[in-house]
Amino acid sequence: MDRWEDLRVDGGRLWNRLVELGELGAIKGPNGEQGCCRLALTDADRQGRDLVVSWMRDLGLEVVIDALGNVVATRPGTDPAAAPVMTGSHIDTVATGGRFDGNLGVLAGLEVLETLEQHAVATTRPLAVAFFTDEEGARFAPDMLGSFVFVGGMALEEALDVAAVDDGARLGDELARIGYAGPVPCPTAIAPHAFVELHIEQGPILEDEGVGIGVVEGVQGISWTELTIDGRSAHAGTTPMRLRRDAGYVAAEIATFARRLALELGDAQVATVGRFEVRPDLVNVVPNGATLTVDLRNTDDEVLQRAEASLRAEVDRLAAAENVTVTSRSLARFAPVDFDPATVALVEATAQRLGHTTRRMPSGAGHDAQMLARICPAAMIFTPSVGGLSHNIGEHTHPDDVTAGADVLLQTMLTLANQPRGRGG
Ligand code: GLV
Ligand code: MN
Ligand code: MN
Repeated sequence: MDRWEDLRVDGGRLWNRLVELGELGAIKGPNGEQGCCRLALTDADRQGRDLVVSWMRDLGLEVVIDALGNVVATRPGTDPAAAPVMTGSHIDTVATGGRFDGNLGVLAGLEVLETLEQHAVATTRPLAVAFFTDEEGARFAPDMLGSFVFVGGMALEEALDVAAVDDGARLGDELARIGYAGPVPCPTAIAPHAFVELHIEQGPILEDEGVGIGVVEGVQGISWTELTIDGRSAHAGTTPMRLRRDAGYVAAEIATFARRLALELGDAQVATVGRFEVRPDLVNVVPNGATLTVDLRNTDDEVLQRAEASLRAEVDRLAAAENVTVTSRSLARFAPVDFDPATVALVEATAQRLGHTTRRMPSGAGHDAQMLARICPAAMIFTPSVGGLSHNIGEHTHPDDVTAGADVLLQTMLTLANQPRGRGG
């Protein structure tokens, strides 16, 4: 290899690793689709972590595990005092997830480092690849929890005390149980020089427009609320409608209100009721309790705040009208994030230099990069998702697109790693 600008990843090796990691926690769909269930800090997550860490160690990387189970593997640069250029993502999945969400970013980062090893390419700065604990937030809220604590956004002790939504287990106990309560302090002591994350788009736009690479300019704001409704159980046949305190009815009204609200506030607003439980969940009993979650997102924080206020007002109105109490708990609230314009421009120029069509776009999903953006310049690269599907076992990205995204990551990281030192290392 004469020039590092000509270096390319081994797409086959990366694909094989995606397939191998995807075997851990594999779940099958009715039409033969293969997805993944590796909820954070479960036994399946431990298996996935063990495999990725073994790959990191096989490459001779320095692997550190911090007190929240975030794992960072580093390849040294020629300037020992320089801050690393970092990439990474997550390997936990939602319960009905795919093999690409998060996993692609981690394994592409590993592939970048392996490519440099294989071709004996030295960089001025160290290069690091990380996987962060509990990005999905599906088991422990909020989402991006590992990277949030990594950048000092939440106290470690508070994160360790978060209870799982499924079995109530304490995060710190689960971390210790799977052997990933590491010795290195979290938050990190060393801010990266820059952070660039490769991720599948998880939406339909790139495929629909026939564009090869998404250049992500920022991430929309996110607001998660859990609502618990307490009414009174009663006989379904004997209790007149006007005398009911029906928690199930109130939950259903909130869910349909969230949908209407999103439609009223315009295309940028989305609303999802993803969890919905009624108690006692019996055919002939008026529900005395219900719990549901409302996920509201918008690229404009002012509109997102209006959506939150409208939801609160409607919940209060319904509670009074049906004589129930509603307890509201915020599970996550992150403002929209703008990525670093220079790093975004570098991703775009790099993708175009490699011959790809590009499109600038916001991210609808939350990502670890939005947390890293708090401590260093950050940006993201998107590859197309077939049918726009994600958080679905049918999630798929074509091998050529996987390779293209990893090549853009490689070349972006190499440029950043060979840039002269600026202020602050
Ligand atoms: C997390 O990845 C989310 O966007 O829900
Ligand atoms: Mn993800
Ligand atoms: Mn996800």
